[in-house]
Amino acid sequence: MTNEQQKQPVTVLGLGLMGTALAQAFRRSGHPTTTWTRSNRPGPDGTTAAASAADAVAASPLVVLCVLDYRAVDAVLARVPDGGLAGKTVVNLTTGTPEQARETSDRITGRGADYLDGGIMSNPEGVGDPTSMMLFSGSAESYQVHHEALSALGDARFLGWDAGLAALYDAALLGIMYSALTGYLQAVALVGREGVSAAGFTPMAREMLTATSSFLGEIAGQVDSGHYASRSARLDMQLSAAEHVIDAGRVRKVDTTVLEHVKSLMARAVADGHAGSDYAAVIDQIRKG
Ligand SMILES: NC(=O)c1ccc[n+]([C@@H]2O[C@H](COP(=O)([O-])OP(=O)(O)OC[C@H]3O[C@@H](n4cnc5c(N)ncnc54)[C@H](OP(=O)(O)O)[C@@H]3O)[C@@H](O)[C@H]2O)c1
Repeated sequence: MTNEQQKQPVTVLGLGLMGTALAQAFRRSGHPTTTWTRSNRPGPDGTTAAASAADAVAASPLVVLCVLDYRAVDAVLARVPDGGLAGKTVVNLTTGTPEQARETSDRITGRGADYLDGGIMSNPEGVGDPTSMMLFSGSAESYQVHHEALSALGDARFLGWDAGLAALYDAALLGIMYSALTGYLQAVALVGREGVSAAGFTPMAREMLTATSSFLGEIAGQVDSGHYASRSARLDMQLSAAEHVIDAGRVRKVDTTVLEHVKSLMARAVADGHAGSDYAAVIDQIRKG
């Protein structure tokens, strides 16, 4: 028996940029891979195109779904007849909210399948790279059974039995990415007004991001303990520094909306008695919603 024959067959539903990358990664690691997408396009080389979503689901015990949104998830699953999902493990890697993941889990398990929800913390190029974070939550048993196949996608991590957890972590981590990238672009726009190129500035931006990430351990301890007393950088001093950052942006006519909101969170924390606290004190303002 060849290695390929021994590997778990996998079906991938949805062949957008991400679904195609998922199918390629399964195929590369030797999993017989069946594909289907709404527009009936064939998948990447070496994969087998099924004639229908129902045929694709029938081809493998492990069914990976990655489409635009949960409306599309519903549309795809509606094409699979009742009973077609029974005994399968459905892994839904479509981005959505924890609530959508939990509702979908209920509906899919109600049709006799096991359910795992997932979050892909990578772009399509990173799929299959062993360092790319892939988050999963839901059926622990199915995760165990299919761990080898799911590891073909990257650094697979199981977060717990609650199907909503992967989407929760996905939202949290994407929030970090969007905030950090906006901060970076804000900085590039600022120095760009004085003729500094993005490429010229970027090595220093990287160092700042590394330095910033080194603060996280201490901040986490302060958040978890609820004690924010500062030993080195009082929040009232940082509020004053944030004002200078905004002034520099205003003078150079770059958008300062995001930074103004950050400043207002800091100002509210100071007004709440945290002038002598560390930046961690801002969490109380964020938690007010
Ligand atoms: N691209 C990334 O960098 C990235 C990273 C992490 C997570 N994700 C997530 O992965 C998912 C897919 O992203 P993508 O980049 O592959 O998007 P995409 O290239 O736009 O592909 C969207 C896929 O959804 C299918 N689809 C859309 N509406 C549908 C409907 N009503 N019924 C059935 N199928 C429908 C499309 O079918 P057709 O093939 O027929 O057009 C296509 O296969 C999204 O939830 C996204 O948030 C993407």
